[in-house]
Amino acid sequence: MSYLETAAEFYATVAQTPEVGLCCVNEETLALPDLVIPEIMQAMNYGCGTTVQASELANQPAVLYVGVGGGLEALQFAYFSRRPGAVIAVDPVAAMREAAQRNLIQAAKLNPWFKPEFVQILAGDAFTLPVPNESVDVVAQNCLFNIFEPADLAQALAEAQRVLKPQGRLLMSDPIATRPIPEHLRRDERLRAMCLSGALTYEEYMQHLAQAGFGHIEIRARRPYRLLEAAIYGLAADLPLDSLDSVAINTPVPCGGPKIIDLSIDTPPIKNTQAPSCCG
Ligand SMILES: C[S@@+](CC[C@H](N)C(=O)[O-])C[C@H]1O[C@@H](n2cnc3c(N)ncnc32)[C@H](O)[C@@H]1O
Repeated sequence: MSYLETAAEFYATVAQTPEVGLCCVNEETLALPDLVIPEIMQAMNYGCGTTVQASELANQPAVLYVGVGGGLEALQFAYFSRRPGAVIAVDPVAAMREAAQRNLIQAAKLNPWFKPEFVQILAGDAFTLPVPNESVDVVAQNCLFNIFEPADLAQALAEAQRVLKPQGRLLMSDPIATRPIPEHLRRDERLRAMCLSGALTYEEYMQHLAQAGFGHIEIRARRPYRLLEAAIYGLAADLPLDSLDSVAINTPVPCGGPKIIDLSIDTPPIKNTQAPSCCG
């Protein structure tokens, strides 16, 4: 069995028996006016941060969501797009697609503005997205790409770029490791599926994004995510994982390489809010 099959098997199980806190979300779910999230959808929040960046979602964008989970973020994207088929959510796991569909039908009962047909759920995977070239404004994935081995991650990023329109946005949230995760954990397919051992370091993750051909990359947030305890995971010392929310814009790469802005560390320029002094 390949590690991708192990992951699919794992997510089939947690689709049928939701595992609260499977991925440690360290913040409240994004609250939006007039959006009520069904309890079951909340319990199936298997993300590690948020990809729903309101500033990138003007003009009812067409969104492709990769790895639907319980449908929480697909619903949140639909909040901004509000038209049939505007959000396409892809997942290779039939049980997960069925759970998300059920959860969205429940969401429609709680939210008068929402109709289940606002989200179209399709079978497919991150490596062969079932939409044409340059057809969507936004591609989003939360806590999925970290599961992929490096060559597969490169393929998933290339595929996201293929389907994005020029100037389209790739919105992602993934765990990153504060130092390299040792090989014995990286090889553990179940831990990888659980988003615990596939994480790259910040530098490796940024390098993958830069090599994928996005001209502008912004880190929007970085937060503590999980701790791999030394005693449990056979490590010399505890290994903290952080989660990283990012936005990559499908714009040509400038000669010197992509423009990278890390808003989680960069100090915003000091603005002069005083009127220029007048002389005389
Ligand atoms: C960690 S969960 C995240 C779910 C959702 N994004 C969230 O934030 O709650 C990973 C999701 O990706 C799906 N998945 C697994 N392998 C995949 C693949 N190769 N391509 C696309 N989705 C995949 C799983 O079935 C599951 O729904």
